[in-house]
Amino acid sequence: MAAATQTLSTRGFGNTSRTDKWWLAPALQFVGFGAAIAYSTWAAFQGSHYFREPYLSPFYSPTVVLSIDLWPFNTSWLAWLFVPISPALIILPFPLGFRLTCYYYRKMYYRTYFSEPPACAVGEFGKPEVYRGETRFPFNLLNLHRYFTYAALAILVILSYDTVLAFNHGGRLGVGLGTVVLMVNVVTLGLYTFGCHSVRHIVGGRVDCFSCTRFGEARYKSWKAITRLNEHHMAFAWISLGAVCFADFYVRLLAGGIPGLSFEEPVVLLDPLLFAVGLVAIGGAAAGYVFWLRRKPAGAAPAPA
Ligand code: FES
Repeated sequence: MAAATQTLSTRGFGNTSRTDKWWLAPALQFVGFGAAIAYSTWAAFQGSHYFREPYLSPFYSPTVVLSIDLWPFNTSWLAWLFVPISPALIILPFPLGFRLTCYYYRKMYYRTYFSEPPACAVGEFGKPEVYRGETRFPFNLLNLHRYFTYAALAILVILSYDTVLAFNHGGRLGVGLGTVVLMVNVVTLGLYTFGCHSVRHIVGGRVDCFSCTRFGEARYKSWKAITRLNEHHMAFAWISLGAVCFADFYVRLLAGGIPGLSFEEPVVLLDPLLFAVGLVAIGGAAAGYVFWLRRKPAGAAPAPA
């Protein structure tokens, strides 16, 4: 192994014996992640056009109000602290920290942006360095991922609440394209967040024996479900990143934040009773399907050869 490592590390940037398109994934990731960071930075600095009844951009949720009037003491000399800044600059560090410390994104940017190395069995940029793990600044900050996970779970609850509010069209129950956009955002964000390695550890970690632990069966089943999500963590990371950027863009479009592209969306108003019956029917069908799956007898064992 040592000999193989030595051979690769001295090859120089991009040199490899691989004949496949190893460069394609890093190139796409470079463009995709760079575009998402560029867009979200631009949107965060706007500080406007992030709300259009009943939709709130996920970049600006929860709404944060900074005002000297909320300060409990008469300290007007502190007014300079309350310079108007975009609320997104206070909110976004949490989801951004969650993504930047994510195990999948680390792999992505180590390869794509740091070229350490750009792909398996491909020469890296510059002189090979001794791998020190994530024990030194700033990379030791990546160990904060579990704490960003708690913040991400809280934000997911808030965004779910925003999505429920997106059904309220002037006091009437309705669905617009924005309602669907926010729903897709919250669902994909949920699939990404619940597939997180830290969530998997919170649910199933530090347990030697599920059947000897309190709530062991529930924890085991949850851990198995999270494991299935975790297997697709990379896909959910990208889909949810695209969905959250698009959700902000869509709200911005409706709010007139993109000159020349504003429009009025059509809204389908719903009968609350029919809506409730539909929800119960879908929930019942899903529960019935799960029940049927669990009761379905396993296939017959193959006959011995
Ligand atoms: S490991 Fe990717 S979000 Fe936690």
